[in-house]
Amino acid sequence: MRSALSHLECSKCGASYDADVQQHLCVCGAPLLARYDLKAAAATCTRSSLAQREENLWRYSELLPVREPAKRVTLHESFSPIIPLQTLNRDFGFKGLAVKDEGTLPTGSFKARGAAVGISRASELGVEAFAMPTNGNAGAAWAAYAARAGIRAHIVMPTDAPLISRLECFIAGADVQLVNGLINDAASVVNEAVAHHGWYDASTLKEPYRIEGKKTLGFEIVEQFAWDLPDVIVYPTGGGVGLIGMYKAFLELREIGLLGERMPRFVAVQAQGCRPIVDAWRDGKRESMLQRGSNTVAFGINVPKALGDFLVLDILYATGGAAVAIGDEAMLEMQQLIGSREGVFVCPEGAATLAAAIMLRRDGWITDAQRVLLINTGTGLKYADIPYPQPAIIERK
Ligand SMILES: Cc1ncc(COP(=O)(O)O)c(C=O)c1O
Ligand SMILES: [Zn+2]
Repeated sequence: MRSALSHLECSKCGASYDADVQQHLCVCGAPLLARYDLKAAAATCTRSSLAQREENLWRYSELLPVREPAKRVTLHESFSPIIPLQTLNRDFGFKGLAVKDEGTLPTGSFKARGAAVGISRASELGVEAFAMPTNGNAGAAWAAYAARAGIRAHIVMPTDAPLISRLECFIAGADVQLVNGLINDAASVVNEAVAHHGWYDASTLKEPYRIEGKKTLGFEIVEQFAWDLPDVIVYPTGGGVGLIGMYKAFLELREIGLLGERMPRFVAVQAQGCRPIVDAWRDGKRESMLQRGSNTVAFGINVPKALGDFLVLDILYATGGAAVAIGDEAMLEMQQLIGSREGVFVCPEGAATLAAAIMLRRDGWITDAQRVLLINTGTGLKYADIPYPQPAIIERK
C-alpha cells in the first residue's frame, strides 16, 4: 500500500512544508510533523485489510512516510509482546496491569521503530551522512539501520552513557564521539558539526520522521487491544517522542474511522534527578525549564530540556493525564521486583513506569478495574554498568 504522506506541518505555527525534500525545523524553531491524506489512507487502511498484512511495522504503510517499498530498511521489526503481570496485579490491587516489552525489538529498544522509519526516509531523500546526539539507545539503533542503508552515522553521546550502546555504535561502524556532559551538550557538538559538514541533522524532533516510526507503537497497541485502548498508558519520558507518537497514532486512527473518541490517560514518568516535565505539569505550565546538572541511572530519560516538551504537556492536559518523578533507588527496586515476580528484565526507565503505576494506584488515581499499560522501552541487558549487588565469591584452594 502507498504512503498517503501529503506534507509537513509546523507543530506550533501551522506553517506547511514540502515533504519530499530534506526538512528540519520550522522557521519559527518548532518541530515539523508529517501529515497525510487521511481520506486516501482510509480507503485502504481498514481492519480487514490490516488483518491480512505481515506482523511488522511496515503494515501501516499508508500512515508512514516512506513512499518506495524498496527503500524500507528493516531488521524485521515484529510486534513487541504485551505481557500481563499476573503476580503484580494480585499484589498491588490491579486487574489489568500489563507491560509492552519493547526490549524485544532489534537493537533491544523501542528506538528501532524511529530508526527503521527515520533511516528509510532519509535514504529515500538522498541522505548520505547524518549526525545525532544520543543517550545511547537511539544512537545504537540509528547506527545499525544506517549500516544497512549504507549511510554514514556520526554519533555524539555523553561519556557516562551505557558502555554497551557505545559498543553497539562501534560495531555498526558509526563514528562515535564522547562528550563530558549531558545530552544537550552532545546536541551542541552536533549543531556545530552539522553546520560545518552539512550532515543531515537527525536529533530528536529535528527531522520529522523518527516520530512516525515511534507512532507504530500506538498502532500496535490498538490492534493488540482488539481495536480498543487501555485506560492508562505509563511512559518513561525523556524527549517524549514515544508519547507524542502514540497520541498522534491514536488521533490518525480516529480520523480514518478505526478508533472511537475515548483516549487513554497518559502518564509521563521522569526521574527525581531529571524532572523538567513533571515540574512544568505540576505548575500547569505549557513548557518546561532547562534542568541543569540532571542525573539518573535511567539514562534514556536524562533529558534536561526537550524540544517537544510543549507537545508532551499538551497531551497530558488533553487526556487528563499526570506526570510523576521516581527516584533511582525505587527504579532499581522495581526492576528487581518485576524481574523476580514476572521474569521480565526491564530497563530502569521501564521499571520507573511500574513504580509510577503502583504510586498512582495507591493514591486512587488509578482504580482497580482499569487497564494500565506500562511501556518498557528497552531491555535491562544494556545497563551492565549499574553497580548491582554482587553474589558472594566462594574461595577455593
Ligand atoms: C530506554 C529509553 N527509555 C525512554 C527513552 C525516552 O524516550 P523519548 O524520547 O520518547 O521520551 C529513551 C531515550 O533515549 C530510552 O533510551
Ligand atoms: Zn512554525
